[in-house]
Amino acid sequence: MKAVIEMKNVTKDFLQGDNVIKALKETNFVAYEGELIAIVGPSGSGKSTFLTILGGLQKPTTGKVLLNGQPFSELTTNEKSKLRLDNMGFILQASNLIPFLTVSEQMVLYNKITKSKVNKAWMSELFEKLGVEKLKHKYPNELSGGERQRSAIVKALYHNPNVIFADEPTASLDTTRAYEVVKLLARETKAQKKATIMVTHDERMLEFCDKVYVIVDGVLSLRN
Ligand SMILES: Nc1ncnc2c1ncn2[C@@H]1O[C@H](COP(=O)(O)OP(=O)(O)OP(=O)(O)O)[C@@H](O)[C@H]1O
Ligand SMILES: [Mg+2]
Repeated sequence: MKAVIEMKNVTKDFLQGDNVIKALKETNFVAYEGELIAIVGPSGSGKSTFLTILGGLQKPTTGKVLLNGQPFSELTTNEKSKLRLDNMGFILQASNLIPFLTVSEQMVLYNKITKSKVNKAWMSELFEKLGVEKLKHKYPNELSGGERQRSAIVKALYHNPNVIFADEPTASLDTTRAYEVVKLLARETKAQKKATIMVTHDERMLEFCDKVYVIVDGVLSLRN
């Protein structure tokens, strides 16, 4: 099995006045292609910190992140952005939609940046699966929290990244939609041999996951 994304001896400290918050203690982690991995743990335990370091949105204090076996965390912001565009999709707690673009323009933007063709069929399929079809001409500030979340999920899946990071992707969804989203993530992960790493508080979603890790006080461990 191919390792898609790895953490080697990563720690993350935050300085708060004179205090050091050890948000992540020394952490080793690997996600292989085709794996849907859940991260659980109490509020403030380090889940978002873990996810954003893995995705290169924050730098580790020590240690490193590898993407497809190559050094990633040490790259410049520009280099990371380029790799992220091709390889990573994010569904974050703060929605990552661009305020001045409609829902469908968010997708087309990717094609413009990469000079690639708009994949209408795939876009429609995602819109339909996530119930976004009627919302495609709306701007993010015209959407409810759940609608924004669903649009962000479409955006993360649209460009077929090989790693997907999802922070509470089902938080603002009703049960039916939550199941649909996690099943879709599971299906895409298997079919396209992606690695998906999902932070969740929702125990019902864990049955679809291949592995469940728990973070407590910045310490990551595999839950059996
Ligand atoms: N930028 C920052 N500066 C200082 N402290 C931070 C920063 N980001 C996170 N922390 C601290 O690091 C710890 C881990 O935060 P993190 O956001 O990773 O938690 P979490 O597990 O995602 O929590 P939640 O379930 O509430 O989203 C917390 O104690 C938090 O206060
Ligand atoms: Mg969080």
